[in-house]
Amino acid sequence: MTIEALEIVLPGIVDPEGLQITRRQLAAPGPGQVSVRMEATGVSFAEQQMRRGKYYDQPAFPFVPGYDLVGTVIEVGTGVDPALVGGRFAALTKTGGWASAVLLDAADLIPVPTGIDPAEAEAVLVNGVTAWQMLHRVAQVRSGATILVHGANGGVGSTLVQLARNAGITVIGTASARHQDTVRALGATPIDYRDPDVPARVRELAPAGVDAVFDHVGGPGIADSYRLLARGGTLVSYGSASTRDDPGASRVPVLKLLARVLLWNALPNGKGAHFYNLWAGLRRRDTFRAKLRTDLAQVFHQITSGTLAPQVAARIPLQDAATAVRLAESGTVTGKVVLVP
Ligand SMILES: NC(=O)c1ccc[n+]([C@@H]2O[C@H](COP(=O)([O-])OP(=O)(O)OC[C@H]3O[C@@H](n4cnc5c(N)ncnc54)[C@H](OP(=O)(O)O)[C@@H]3O)[C@@H](O)[C@H]2O)c1
Repeated sequence: MTIEALEIVLPGIVDPEGLQITRRQLAAPGPGQVSVRMEATGVSFAEQQMRRGKYYDQPAFPFVPGYDLVGTVIEVGTGVDPALVGGRFAALTKTGGWASAVLLDAADLIPVPTGIDPAEAEAVLVNGVTAWQMLHRVAQVRSGATILVHGANGGVGSTLVQLARNAGITVIGTASARHQDTVRALGATPIDYRDPDVPARVRELAPAGVDAVFDHVGGPGIADSYRLLARGGTLVSYGSASTRDDPGASRVPVLKLLARVLLWNALPNGKGAHFYNLWAGLRRRDTFRAKLRTDLAQVFHQITSGTLAPQVAARIPLQDAATAVRLAESGTVTGKVVLVP
């Protein structure tokens, strides 16, 4: 079967309007591969960094961005069960998802339960796995605990708040002033991250400190996040949003965070610190895939049982990726901007 795929190419460091639309014939799936027609793909913070050349392990330009997608299998290669054709699956791709059709390894497909809308499933792929693994695998926060979630209206943040609330955890969430009501509606107590003294606002709500902090902001403020921990508490650093527009090498801010984490863990004060990386463990690919499937199944289960509401900020046609990126970067949205065919 010959399929023409529409792709969005990031040619270099450009404004969103510099994204290019191209078309190419998709090759037939090779052994172990499937071709998938995209139904939803997302705009993550990662693409905001990639278009500035600031994502710590992005490929050389030009490339097709797109961290994750949901789609339907249209053809299988040799060695792949033909019964997959017509099924809806999710995949984490890191790049390549912004295309109307893609080739994937069949082993990377994660089934999407019937009844979940593709855009809603898309909103919890990288966001859901990241939130679930940080909360339950890394920090292992227990029911009754109190946590601080930075960027509580964002894609990861809005998912993390809900997963935590569902686990009986009290959540304080930072967000800009316009998102306070949204954060409250998700079940967290909001704090404006532009408040001149965010740590003081947190201490008013949690005088003894919090049991975990989830920090994607990085920069000097990471020290406040660590100081806000109660004894036995855990800091999970997982990004460096505050340095997105800084000049210089993309790896430096992350290396600085890793150095701080190492240092803090050497202190005998009962606190723990981690840098979470979704792709850690990829070398043991089968174990990595099994974890993704297990964790995403838990997230999907919360959607089908009605306890997790995926936050789809907007659905925008793939060809209008520039509009979608502008919107995602506008600081006006809650949750995930989703690209659809
Ligand atoms: N380590 C990993 O494996 C991993 C995996 C996934 C994601 N991440 C990281 O997770 C973060 C969130 O990703 P996302 O896709 O959820 O992004 P998103 O939907 O764009 O949300 C970003 C959030 O951060 C807030 N924010 C932006 N700039 C900020 C700043 N300078 N200081 C404080 N808050 C700021 C935004 O608030 P406003 O809307 O109010 O501006 C929004 O709540 C990113 O840093 C991303 O790199 C890491």
